[in-house]
Amino acid sequence: MPTRAAQLFSRPLDLGGLTIPNRIVMAPMTRFDSPDGVPSDDLAAYYARRAANGVGLVITESVYVDHPSAGQLDNGSRMYGDAALAGWSRAVRAVHAEGGLVFAQLQHIGMVRKAGDPPHPEAPAVGPSGVPMDGAVDPSGLPVDDNPRRGRAMTQDDIDDVVRAFAEGAATAARLGFDGVELHGAHGYLIDQFFWSRSNRRTDAYGGGTGSRARFAAEVVAEVVAAVRGAVPAGFPVVVRLSQWKSNDFDARSFDTPEDLGVVLDKLADAGADAFHASTRRYWQPAFAGSDLNLAGWTKKLSGKPAITVGSVGLDNDFWNSLTGEAVATTGIDGLLDRLESDEFDLVAIGRPLIADPEWAAKMLTGRKNEITAFTAAALGSVH
Ligand code: FNR
Repeated sequence: MPTRAAQLFSRPLDLGGLTIPNRIVMAPMTRFDSPDGVPSDDLAAYYARRAANGVGLVITESVYVDHPSAGQLDNGSRMYGDAALAGWSRAVRAVHAEGGLVFAQLQHIGMVRKAGDPPHPEAPAVGPSGVPMDGAVDPSGLPVDDNPRRGRAMTQDDIDDVVRAFAEGAATAARLGFDGVELHGAHGYLIDQFFWSRSNRRTDAYGGGTGSRARFAAEVVAEVVAAVRGAVPAGFPVVVRLSQWKSNDFDARSFDTPEDLGVVLDKLADAGADAFHASTRRYWQPAFAGSDLNLAGWTKKLSGKPAITVGSVGLDNDFWNSLTGEAVATTGIDGLLDRLESDEFDLVAIGRPLIADPEWAAKMLTGRKNEITAFTAAALGSVH
Protein backbone atom coordinates (compact mmCIF):
# COMPACT_ATOMS: atom_id res chain seq x y z
CA MET A 1 0.00 0.00 0.00
CA PRO A 2 1.74 3.25 -1.11
CA THR A 3 2.07 5.98 1.51
CA ARG A 4 0.04 9.17 1.17
CA ALA A 5 3.19 11.04 0.13
CA ALA A 6 3.93 8.46 -2.54
CA GLN A 7 0.37 8.61 -3.85
CA LEU A 8 0.20 12.38 -4.04
CA PHE A 9 3.72 12.96 -5.38
CA SER A 10 3.65 10.21 -8.00
CA ARG A 11 0.90 11.71 -10.18
CA PRO A 12 2.06 13.07 -13.57
CA LEU A 13 1.26 16.63 -14.62
CA ASP A 14 0.95 18.41 -17.96
CA LEU A 15 3.07 21.55 -17.90
CA GLY A 16 2.72 23.59 -21.07
CA GLY A 17 2.51 20.48 -23.25
CA LEU A 18 5.28 18.59 -21.43
CA THR A 19 4.43 15.70 -19.12
CA ILE A 20 6.23 15.92 -15.79
CA PRO A 21 6.23 12.35 -14.44
CA ASN A 22 5.65 13.31 -10.79
CA ARG A 23 5.19 16.35 -8.58
CA ILE A 24 8.72 16.66 -7.19
CA VAL A 25 10.87 19.46 -8.63
CA MET A 26 14.47 20.22 -7.75
CA ALA A 27 14.60 23.92 -6.83
CA PRO A 28 17.18 26.09 -8.64
CA MET A 29 20.28 26.39 -6.48
CA THR A 30 23.56 28.08 -7.34
CA ARG A 31 26.39 25.72 -6.38
CA PHE A 32 29.45 27.83 -7.31
CA ASP A 33 30.89 24.96 -9.31
CA SER A 34 31.21 26.52 -12.74
CA PRO A 35 34.78 27.86 -13.08
CA ASP A 36 34.81 30.66 -15.67
CA GLY A 37 31.09 30.06 -16.12
CA VAL A 38 31.52 26.46 -17.28
CA PRO A 39 29.41 23.92 -15.37
CA SER A 40 31.74 21.21 -14.11
CA ASP A 41 31.40 17.50 -14.77
CA ASP A 42 30.70 17.07 -11.04
CA LEU A 43 27.78 19.46 -11.39
CA ALA A 44 26.42 17.51 -14.39
CA ALA A 45 26.68 14.27 -12.41
CA TYR A 46 25.00 15.93 -9.39
CA TYR A 47 21.96 16.92 -11.49
CA ALA A 48 21.86 13.50 -13.16
CA ARG A 49 21.98 11.76 -9.77
CA ARG A 50 18.82 13.61 -8.66
CA ALA A 51 17.09 12.77 -11.95
CA ALA A 52 18.05 9.10 -11.57
CA ASN A 53 16.57 9.12 -8.08
CA GLY A 54 13.04 10.22 -8.72
CA VAL A 55 13.08 14.00 -9.23
CA GLY A 56 10.35 14.68 -11.80
CA LEU A 57 11.90 17.93 -13.00
CA VAL A 58 15.33 19.41 -12.31
CA ILE A 59 15.58 23.20 -12.48
CA THR A 60 19.21 24.22 -12.77
CA GLU A 61 20.87 26.88 -10.69
CA SER A 62 20.58 30.39 -12.09
CA VAL A 63 22.52 30.78 -15.33
CA TYR A 64 23.65 34.22 -16.50
CA VAL A 65 22.30 35.43 -19.80
CA ASP A 66 24.70 37.00 -22.29
CA HIS A 67 24.77 40.58 -21.05
CA PRO A 68 27.86 42.10 -19.40
CA SER A 69 25.96 43.21 -16.29
CA ALA A 70 24.04 39.95 -15.79
CA GLY A 71 26.15 38.37 -13.07
CA GLN A 72 28.61 38.80 -10.26
CA LEU A 73 30.58 35.55 -9.95
CA ASP A 74 33.42 33.91 -11.85
CA ASN A 75 32.12 30.51 -10.84
CA GLY A 76 28.47 31.24 -11.60
CA SER A 77 27.37 29.43 -14.73
CA ARG A 78 26.69 31.13 -18.06
CA MET A 79 24.39 30.48 -20.99
CA TYR A 80 26.95 31.81 -23.44
CA GLY A 81 30.46 31.00 -24.60
CA ASP A 82 31.47 27.75 -26.30
CA ALA A 83 32.93 26.10 -23.20
CA ALA A 84 29.94 26.89 -20.98
CA LEU A 85 27.49 25.69 -23.62
CA ALA A 86 29.46 22.47 -24.07
CA GLY A 87 29.31 22.03 -20.29
CA TRP A 88 25.55 22.52 -20.22
CA SER A 89 25.16 20.16 -23.15
CA ARG A 90 26.99 17.48 -21.13
CA ALA A 91 24.76 18.16 -18.12
CA VAL A 92 21.58 17.91 -20.22
CA ARG A 93 22.74 14.64 -21.79
CA ALA A 94 23.58 13.25 -18.35
CA VAL A 95 20.11 14.08 -16.99
CA HIS A 96 18.40 12.69 -20.09
CA ALA A 97 20.46 9.50 -19.89
CA GLU A 98 18.76 8.93 -16.54
CA GLY A 99 15.33 9.57 -18.05
CA GLY A 100 15.03 12.98 -16.36
CA LEU A 101 13.78 16.40 -17.43
CA VAL A 102 15.77 19.60 -16.92
CA PHE A 103 14.94 23.29 -17.24
CA ALA A 104 17.56 26.07 -17.26
CA GLN A 105 16.96 28.99 -14.92
CA LEU A 106 17.91 32.20 -16.73
CA GLN A 107 19.20 35.07 -14.67
CA HIS A 108 20.15 38.76 -14.73
CA ILE A 109 20.92 40.13 -11.28
CA GLY A 110 20.45 43.83 -12.06
CA MET A 111 21.36 46.10 -9.17
CA VAL A 112 22.49 43.23 -6.95
CA ARG A 113 25.67 43.52 -8.96
CA LYS A 114 28.46 45.76 -7.67
CA ALA A 115 30.56 47.69 -10.15
CA GLY A 116 33.85 45.83 -10.61
CA ASP A 117 32.31 42.41 -9.94
CA PRO A 118 33.30 39.54 -12.20
CA PRO A 119 32.80 38.10 -14.74
CA HIS A 120 32.84 41.45 -16.60
CA PRO A 121 34.39 43.93 -14.14
CA GLU A 122 34.08 46.83 -16.57
CA ALA A 123 30.29 46.57 -16.70
CA PRO A 124 28.16 48.82 -14.50
CA ALA A 125 25.28 47.54 -12.42
CA VAL A 126 22.02 48.39 -14.17
CA GLY A 127 18.44 48.26 -13.00
CA PRO A 128 15.10 49.96 -13.50
CA SER A 129 16.13 53.06 -11.54
CA GLY A 130 19.69 52.47 -10.33
CA VAL A 131 18.44 51.77 -6.81
CA PRO A 132 20.96 49.68 -4.86
CA MET A 133 19.79 46.26 -3.70
CA ASP A 134 21.79 45.56 -0.60
CA GLY A 135 21.31 45.62 3.14
CA ALA A 136 21.98 49.35 3.29
CA VAL A 137 19.28 50.43 0.89
CA ASP A 138 17.99 53.90 1.66
CA PRO A 139 14.42 53.58 3.00
CA SER A 140 13.33 56.06 0.36
CA GLY A 141 14.51 53.55 -2.22
CA LEU A 142 16.70 56.16 -3.86
CA PRO A 143 20.35 55.54 -4.66
CA VAL A 144 22.77 56.33 -1.85
CA ASP A 145 25.68 58.32 -3.28
CA ASP A 146 28.50 56.48 -1.57
CA ASN A 147 26.95 53.07 -1.98
CA PRO A 148 29.40 50.75 -3.72
CA ARG A 149 26.54 48.97 -5.44
CA ARG A 150 25.34 52.10 -7.09
CA GLY A 151 24.69 51.67 -10.76
CA ARG A 152 22.49 53.37 -13.26
CA ALA A 153 18.93 53.34 -14.49
CA MET A 154 18.45 51.34 -17.66
CA THR A 155 17.94 53.18 -20.91
CA GLN A 156 15.55 51.85 -23.54
CA ASP A 157 18.59 50.41 -25.32
CA ASP A 158 19.64 48.62 -22.11
CA ILE A 159 16.14 47.21 -21.76
CA ASP A 160 16.08 46.02 -25.37
CA ASP A 161 19.55 44.45 -24.96
CA VAL A 162 18.56 42.55 -21.83
CA VAL A 163 15.25 41.37 -23.30
CA ARG A 164 17.22 40.10 -26.30
CA ALA A 165 19.76 38.41 -24.01
CA PHE A 166 16.99 36.48 -22.23
CA ALA A 167 15.48 35.47 -25.58
CA GLU A 168 18.85 34.32 -26.91
CA GLY A 169 19.55 32.45 -23.67
CA ALA A 170 16.24 30.62 -23.93
CA ALA A 171 16.75 29.74 -27.60
CA THR A 172 20.24 28.51 -26.77
CA ALA A 173 18.88 26.38 -23.92
CA ALA A 174 16.28 24.93 -26.27
CA ARG A 175 18.91 24.08 -28.88
CA LEU A 176 21.13 22.46 -26.24
CA GLY A 177 18.30 20.06 -25.43
CA PHE A 178 16.93 21.54 -22.22
CA ASP A 179 13.25 20.67 -21.76
CA GLY A 180 12.12 24.17 -20.76
CA VAL A 181 13.29 27.37 -19.10
CA GLU A 182 12.53 29.23 -15.91
CA LEU A 183 12.97 33.00 -15.87
CA HIS A 184 14.29 34.23 -12.53
CA GLY A 185 11.79 36.93 -11.66
CA ALA A 186 12.17 36.57 -7.88
CA HIS A 187 14.29 37.42 -4.81
CA GLY A 188 15.10 41.01 -5.80
CA TYR A 189 17.01 40.29 -9.01
CA LEU A 190 16.52 42.31 -12.19
CA ILE A 191 13.04 41.23 -13.29
CA ASP A 192 11.81 41.51 -9.71
CA GLN A 193 13.45 44.96 -9.39
CA PHE A 194 10.99 46.07 -12.06
CA PHE A 195 8.02 44.56 -10.15
CA TRP A 196 8.94 46.20 -6.82
CA SER A 197 7.85 49.83 -6.38
CA ARG A 198 10.86 50.57 -4.18
CA SER A 199 13.42 49.60 -6.80
CA ASN A 200 11.34 50.73 -9.78
CA ARG A 201 11.00 54.53 -9.67
CA ARG A 202 10.51 54.97 -13.39
CA THR A 203 7.99 57.37 -14.76
CA ASP A 204 7.97 55.95 -18.29
CA ALA A 205 5.98 52.98 -19.59
CA TYR A 206 8.00 50.56 -17.39
CA GLY A 207 7.13 52.23 -14.07
CA GLY A 208 4.23 53.65 -12.12
CA GLY A 209 1.29 51.28 -11.61
CA THR A 210 1.50 47.54 -11.08
CA GLY A 211 0.74 46.78 -14.72
CA SER A 212 3.46 49.13 -15.98
CA ARG A 213 5.98 47.62 -13.58
CA ALA A 214 5.20 44.21 -15.12
CA ARG A 215 5.84 45.46 -18.64
CA PHE A 216 9.54 44.56 -18.64
CA ALA A 217 8.82 40.99 -17.47
CA ALA A 218 6.05 40.64 -20.05
CA GLU A 219 8.42 41.77 -22.81
CA VAL A 220 11.00 39.23 -21.64
CA VAL A 221 8.40 36.45 -21.61
CA ALA A 222 7.03 37.37 -25.05
CA GLU A 223 10.49 37.48 -26.65
CA VAL A 224 11.55 34.26 -24.90
CA VAL A 225 8.42 32.49 -26.12
CA ALA A 226 8.97 33.73 -29.67
CA ALA A 227 12.63 32.67 -29.57
CA VAL A 228 11.96 29.15 -28.33
CA ARG A 229 9.10 28.68 -30.78
CA GLY A 230 11.64 29.47 -33.49
CA ALA A 231 14.13 26.96 -32.08
CA VAL A 232 12.17 23.87 -31.04
CA PRO A 233 8.70 22.36 -31.47
CA ALA A 234 5.90 23.18 -29.00
CA GLY A 235 6.02 21.55 -25.59
CA PHE A 236 8.97 23.59 -24.29
CA PRO A 237 7.49 25.34 -21.23
CA VAL A 238 8.40 28.84 -20.11
CA VAL A 239 8.03 29.22 -16.34
CA VAL A 240 8.36 32.49 -14.41
CA ARG A 241 9.64 32.47 -10.82
CA LEU A 242 8.16 35.19 -8.59
CA SER A 243 8.45 36.14 -4.93
CA GLN A 244 7.36 38.84 -2.55
CA TRP A 245 10.59 38.72 -0.51
CA LYS A 246 13.91 40.14 -1.64
CA SER A 247 17.38 39.00 -0.60
CA ASN A 248 17.89 42.42 0.99
CA ASP A 249 14.39 42.70 2.48
CA PHE A 250 12.43 39.68 3.66
CA ASP A 251 9.32 41.76 4.39
CA ALA A 252 9.17 43.39 0.97
CA ARG A 253 6.10 42.96 -1.17
CA SER A 254 6.02 43.36 -4.92
CA PHE A 255 2.30 42.60 -4.92
CA ASP A 256 0.34 44.38 -2.18
CA THR A 257 -2.99 42.72 -2.89
CA PRO A 258 -4.35 39.71 -4.77
CA GLU A 259 -5.57 42.20 -7.38
CA ASP A 260 -2.00 43.44 -7.92
CA LEU A 261 -0.76 39.90 -8.27
CA GLY A 262 -3.57 39.15 -10.69
CA VAL A 263 -2.66 42.10 -12.90
CA VAL A 264 0.93 40.88 -13.15
CA LEU A 265 0.01 37.25 -13.75
CA ASP A 266 -2.46 38.22 -16.48
CA LYS A 267 0.21 40.18 -18.32
CA LEU A 268 2.72 37.34 -18.07
CA ALA A 269 0.18 34.71 -19.09
CA ASP A 270 -0.91 36.87 -22.03
CA ALA A 271 2.75 37.11 -23.04
CA GLY A 272 2.92 33.31 -23.09
CA ALA A 273 4.09 32.11 -19.67
CA ASP A 274 3.06 28.48 -19.19
CA ALA A 275 3.39 28.22 -15.42
CA PHE A 276 4.57 30.07 -12.32
CA HIS A 277 6.99 29.20 -9.54
CA ALA A 278 5.98 31.12 -6.42
CA SER A 279 8.98 31.34 -4.13
CA THR A 280 8.32 31.64 -0.42
CA ARG A 281 10.72 31.06 2.44
CA ARG A 282 8.07 28.99 4.27
CA TYR A 283 5.33 27.37 2.20
CA TRP A 284 2.78 27.36 5.05
CA GLN A 285 2.60 31.14 5.35
CA PRO A 286 -0.50 32.82 3.86
CA ALA A 287 0.28 35.25 1.05
CA PHE A 288 -2.53 37.68 1.83
CA ALA A 289 -4.75 38.31 4.85
CA GLY A 290 -8.08 36.54 5.00
CA SER A 291 -7.05 33.26 3.34
CA ASP A 292 -4.73 30.35 4.09
CA LEU A 293 -3.58 30.15 0.47
CA ASN A 294 0.15 30.57 0.04
CA LEU A 295 1.67 32.53 -2.84
CA ALA A 296 1.58 29.51 -5.15
CA GLY A 297 -2.03 28.92 -4.18
CA TRP A 298 -3.01 32.48 -5.06
CA THR A 299 -0.95 32.31 -8.24
CA LYS A 300 -2.75 29.19 -9.42
CA LYS A 301 -6.15 30.54 -8.42
CA LEU A 302 -5.66 33.88 -10.16
CA SER A 303 -3.90 32.70 -13.31
CA GLY A 304 -5.42 29.26 -13.85
CA LYS A 305 -1.87 28.13 -14.73
CA PRO A 306 0.08 25.35 -13.02
CA ALA A 307 1.95 26.58 -9.96
CA ILE A 308 5.06 25.34 -8.17
CA THR A 309 5.36 25.89 -4.42
CA VAL A 310 8.64 25.94 -2.50
CA GLY A 311 10.07 26.88 0.86
CA SER A 312 11.15 24.82 3.88
CA VAL A 313 9.32 21.66 2.86
CA GLY A 314 10.16 19.18 5.62
CA LEU A 315 12.34 21.74 7.43
CA ASP A 316 11.70 24.16 10.29
CA ASN A 317 14.05 26.99 9.25
CA ASP A 318 14.36 28.82 5.95
CA PHE A 319 17.21 28.55 3.47
CA TRP A 320 18.58 32.01 4.03
CA ASN A 321 19.14 31.22 7.71
CA SER A 322 20.79 27.95 6.67
CA LEU A 323 23.22 29.86 4.50
CA THR A 324 24.28 31.82 7.57
CA GLY A 325 24.75 28.57 9.53
CA GLU A 326 21.59 28.55 11.69
CA ALA A 327 20.36 25.14 12.83
CA VAL A 328 17.51 23.50 10.97
CA ALA A 329 15.51 20.43 11.96
CA THR A 330 13.53 18.00 9.84
CA THR A 331 9.74 18.17 10.18
CA GLY A 332 6.75 16.27 8.81
CA ILE A 333 5.09 17.22 5.54
CA ASP A 334 1.44 16.40 6.32
CA GLY A 335 0.45 20.05 5.94
CA LEU A 336 2.10 20.19 2.53
CA LEU A 337 0.35 17.01 1.42
CA ASP A 338 -3.02 18.43 2.54
CA ARG A 339 -2.44 21.42 0.30
CA LEU A 340 -1.21 19.30 -2.61
CA GLU A 341 -4.25 17.04 -2.27
CA SER A 342 -6.58 20.04 -2.37
CA ASP A 343 -4.86 21.23 -5.57
CA GLU A 344 -3.76 24.50 -3.97
CA PHE A 345 -0.68 24.10 -6.20
CA ASP A 346 0.56 21.45 -8.61
CA LEU A 347 4.27 20.89 -8.09
CA VAL A 348 6.53 21.05 -5.05
CA ALA A 349 10.10 22.31 -5.36
CA ILE A 350 12.63 20.93 -2.92
CA GLY A 351 15.89 22.76 -2.25
CA ARG A 352 18.14 21.91 0.67
CA PRO A 353 16.76 18.41 1.30
CA LEU A 354 17.85 17.45 -2.22
CA ILE A 355 21.33 18.83 -1.61
CA ALA A 356 21.61 16.67 1.50
CA ASP A 357 20.10 13.52 0.00
CA PRO A 358 20.18 12.85 -3.75
CA GLU A 359 17.63 10.09 -3.14
CA TRP A 360 15.11 12.31 -1.33
CA ALA A 361 12.53 11.98 -4.11
CA ALA A 362 12.94 8.23 -4.60
CA LYS A 363 12.64 7.66 -0.87
CA MET A 364 9.45 9.76 -0.70
CA LEU A 365 7.99 8.01 -3.72
CA THR A 366 8.64 4.52 -2.35
CA GLY A 367 7.60 4.98 1.27
CA ARG A 368 11.15 5.14 2.64
CA LYS A 369 10.82 8.55 4.25
CA ASN A 370 12.55 7.30 7.38
CA GLU A 371 15.73 6.63 5.39
CA ILE A 372 16.13 10.25 4.24
CA THR A 373 19.44 11.86 5.19
CA ALA A 374 18.61 15.03 7.11
CA PHE A 375 19.85 18.38 5.81
CA THR A 376 22.57 20.13 7.75
CA ALA A 377 24.45 23.27 6.72
CA ALA A 378 27.55 21.08 6.15
CA ALA A 379 25.81 19.60 3.09
CA LEU A 380 26.14 22.95 1.32
CA GLY A 381 29.91 22.59 1.29
CA SER A 382 30.21 20.17 -1.62
CA VAL A 383 28.50 19.15 -4.85
CA HIS A 384 27.95 15.40 -4.73
C1 FNR B 1 19.10 28.88 -3.53
N1 FNR B 1 17.95 29.45 -4.10
C2 FNR B 1 18.01 29.93 -5.39
N2 FNR B 1 16.88 30.38 -6.00
C3 FNR B 1 16.89 30.71 -7.32
O1 FNR B 1 15.84 31.08 -7.85
N3 FNR B 1 18.05 30.64 -8.04
C4 FNR B 1 19.23 30.26 -7.49
O2 FNR B 1 20.25 30.16 -8.17
C5 FNR B 1 19.22 29.93 -6.10
N4 FNR B 1 20.39 29.57 -5.46
C6 FNR B 1 20.33 28.96 -4.22
C7 FNR B 1 21.48 28.38 -3.67
C8 FNR B 1 21.41 27.70 -2.47
C9 FNR B 1 22.64 27.05 -1.91
C10 FNR B 1 20.17 27.60 -1.79
C11 FNR B 1 20.05 26.81 -0.49
C12 FNR B 1 19.04 28.19 -2.30
C13 FNR B 1 16.64 29.32 -3.42
C14 FNR B 1 16.04 27.93 -3.67
O3 FNR B 1 15.65 27.78 -5.02
C15 FNR B 1 14.79 27.68 -2.81
O4 FNR B 1 13.80 28.61 -3.12
C16 FNR B 1 15.12 27.76 -1.33
O5 FNR B 1 16.26 26.99 -1.02
C17 FNR B 1 13.95 27.25 -0.50
O6 FNR B 1 13.77 25.88 -0.64
P1 FNR B 1 14.21 24.88 0.57
O7 FNR B 1 15.70 24.86 0.62
O8 FNR B 1 13.61 25.46 1.79
O9 FNR B 1 13.61 23.56 0.17
